[in-house]
Amino acid sequence: MAQDWWKSAVVYQIYPRSFMDSNGDGIGDLQGILGKLDYLQDLGVDVLWLSPIYDSPNDDNGYDIRDYKKIMSEFGTMEDFEQLLLQMHRRGLKLVMDLVVNHTSDEHPWFVESRSSIDSPYRNYYLWRKGKQGREPNNWLSYFSGPAWEYDSTTQEYYLHLFSRKQPDLNWDNPTVRQQVYDLMKFWLDKGIDGFRMDVINHISKVPGLPDGSHPNERGYAWGGEFFANGPRVHEYLQEMNHQVLSRYDVMTVGETGGVSPSDARLYAGFNRQELNMVFQFEHMNIDAGPGGKWDLKPWKLTDLKQVLSRWQQELHGTAWNSLYFGNHDQPRSVSRFGDDGLYRVESAKMLATCLMLQQGTPYIYQGEEIGMTNVDFPSIKDYRDVEIMNLWQEQVEQGGADPAKVLHAIHVKGRDNARTPMQWSADAHAAFTVGEPWIKLNPNYPQVNVAQAVADENSVYHYYKRLIRLRKQHPVLVDARYDLILPNHQEIYAYTRTMETEQWLVVCNFFAGQPEFVLPSGDFYQTTELVLSNYPVLDSAEVDRFNLRPYECRVYRRVQHV
Ligand code: GLC
Ligand code: CA
Repeated sequence: MAQDWWKSAVVYQIYPRSFMDSNGDGIGDLQGILGKLDYLQDLGVDVLWLSPIYDSPNDDNGYDIRDYKKIMSEFGTMEDFEQLLLQMHRRGLKLVMDLVVNHTSDEHPWFVESRSSIDSPYRNYYLWRKGKQGREPNNWLSYFSGPAWEYDSTTQEYYLHLFSRKQPDLNWDNPTVRQQVYDLMKFWLDKGIDGFRMDVINHISKVPGLPDGSHPNERGYAWGGEFFANGPRVHEYLQEMNHQVLSRYDVMTVGETGGVSPSDARLYAGFNRQELNMVFQFEHMNIDAGPGGKWDLKPWKLTDLKQVLSRWQQELHGTAWNSLYFGNHDQPRSVSRFGDDGLYRVESAKMLATCLMLQQGTPYIYQGEEIGMTNVDFPSIKDYRDVEIMNLWQEQVEQGGADPAKVLHAIHVKGRDNARTPMQWSADAHAAFTVGEPWIKLNPNYPQVNVAQAVADENSVYHYYKRLIRLRKQHPVLVDARYDLILPNHQEIYAYTRTMETEQWLVVCNFFAGQPEFVLPSGDFYQTTELVLSNYPVLDSAEVDRFNLRPYECRVYRRVQHV
């Protein structure tokens, strides 16, 4: 099963800008990562996914690419990259690159050419349309506030940008565009990288005619997702990409696919579909959003989380592959969102990792999650850097007259910069992330929450992650075992089993600060029960049928039938 190494792998995501600065300019870089490979190897992860490191004007921190074959000068050089890849491979670490090809930067030479004239050979690389009655060609909203179209005075037409106006969408219906993308993919694969994380890859095929979205708001704009997510030709394009490129290399691929259902996922990541190995689904990221979307804050319910994750576990079992994540560079810190970042920070961070990483799928750890890094609540909008946050502020506060305190609160809870404050390496100045001025402020809790502390403390979140990762390696049964939710309606406890033949794993997690009693539903009889992991000392490790949980306590049991 050599080709399925990605099923048993653990992935660690690095946001290079915020990971480690080696030269004092306040910006993380490749040499910084290189200097931390010992740390990552010690943690026990197998794969590093790097958020984009290509040449970019950084409107969206590298998700706006100007040159796909060049390293961002702030991050280093191609020599640095090659050195990093070599050193990673020497240590048995694999490298996955971010592939951002739904759009480019507006400073990419293709777009510079494309916007220069209606007759440019590059015109059809992007989606240009004439306005309608003095307005945009259709009513779509961008993800980053405002319309998804930008007027360009040179040719008096609009171009589509689902993200910022500096991220024009590529026209995937143009075969030359697709060949260009395959070419740049081969460029990196031939250097020996081990895979791609594909940015918003289910958005590449738009419904022809680009119809208006339904239910427009008071200003006439609407969410057009039904016409650009999971579009009509997306599977054709991914199969073509797989056939022409991916199938020729032993690599892993994960597609970022907002708005997919399990049945969509079986198409993108179904075994034998020849598209992608796995997807990132977003359903569990939406349980704390109201009808107004991401910024419309809503308390989440454990029963919703269980129901969503369990459905994904069930519906992909045996047919497609899950990725497992609670955090990334676009999401708030998982311990602040689903755990307790105060009194029970350590307990709840361990509990969350346990709940997630023993499910079926490939786990992703986002930098800092392994030491329980938390959200940040900067006092002023001036402390924020993210283009999504900037645009929100401009639209809601500066133009819309919304209450600044309310918007700032939403940013504290949901803003992407929560995940982008620098990695906290030690209690030294700037958490030893940089000797210069960091590009974004640090989380002020770094004197308490940092790697040096975590490595020195046997009971830290970090050491617990190491145990959890090792456990997955020592028990390959956890890769394919069946998942079953138990106590589906319990409001505080998330408990599930993983079963394979005569072996069953039981994972019991208390998601809150209460002390609920866990009662195991009667079922198969197992002669041996062993407590393999827990985030509190447990006196009677064979007591599995009924016990009280302490705040954020989790326990993992392994039970075996002797036949
Ligand atoms: C993805 C990335 C996000 C980026 C967006 C546009 O969602 O994860 O960071 O802003 O795509 O590229
Ligand atoms: Ca630097």
